[in-house]
Amino acid sequence: MRSRRSVLAVPGSNPRFLEKAQTLPVDEVFLDLEDSVAPLAKEEARANIVRALREGDWSGKTRVVRVNDLTTQWTYRDVIEIVEGAGEQLDCLMLPKVQDPTEVIWLDTLLTQIEKTMGYEVGRIGIEAQIENARGLVNVDAIAGSSKRLETLVFGPADFMASINMRTLVVGEQPPGYAEGDAYHYILMRLLMAARSHDLQVIDGPYLQIKDVEGFRRVATRAAALGFDGKWVLHPAQVDACNEVFSPSQEDYDHAELILEAYEYYTTVEKRGAVMLGDEMIDEASRKMALVVAAKGRAAGLRRTKRFTP
Ligand code: GLV
Ligand code: MG
Repeated sequence: MRSRRSVLAVPGSNPRFLEKAQTLPVDEVFLDLEDSVAPLAKEEARANIVRALREGDWSGKTRVVRVNDLTTQWTYRDVIEIVEGAGEQLDCLMLPKVQDPTEVIWLDTLLTQIEKTMGYEVGRIGIEAQIENARGLVNVDAIAGSSKRLETLVFGPADFMASINMRTLVVGEQPPGYAEGDAYHYILMRLLMAARSHDLQVIDGPYLQIKDVEGFRRVATRAAALGFDGKWVLHPAQVDACNEVFSPSQEDYDHAELILEAYEYYTTVEKRGAVMLGDEMIDEASRKMALVVAAKGRAAGLRRTKRFTP
């Protein structure tokens, strides 16, 4: 699985941002044709993105393009122009405002046709589905299971809040008057369940107060604690906080690797299934939890600083 701790949004209509994005230490970039691009700039943005993918240096980053949603007139040309123009420099397409599985199936079929026409490897380009309204969330299980190309579900809080008439204008923050809990908890958990039940990743959306890095960190930490794999970043100031929040701490990473190593030793050499590691009892379920943390740590480039001795 690809690491997607930080997912940078880049408007396709802005060549300067398309250049700058290549220099930032994010795991994924998505070059946008949708809501950050004005209707009259869509065609030029397609050309900018094809050029940036072909000529830019995106090494170390997952390269994604967000096309327009299927209620618009733009989607089919977005897909054809981007994939014919730069399909070999592209890892995934992001489809916004997905409301039911037929939309993902449409994109899967169109991608297959373009891949065959162009002589690309069929099925290599993945899909990211944004869930941004009530209908999308109600259908999220079927959406999550709709295509082998799907790699991740992505929460779109701005559109989502508008879709359910949530009474706020500050994306990512709690609606004023709702003091008792987290107004996003149900939505985030619903996405998480659908994603995990289909072995997908799940990514939190943007935090629009880009000057408030502490606010970003607070909201990102909440999503990371639930199990989200990453979050969008809109500004260079958010990048380091995002990578840090979605990587395990050195201590947790060491602990996880220690559990894996100890458990391997006890179950194979001593043939025991529930054993003590220091003051902690570990068993098969502990191994599974440790696998998650260890995988995130390895993907984040962490190195072990502790070894197990029986
Ligand atoms: C992102 O697309 C959002 O609507 O928040
Ligand atoms: Mg949106």
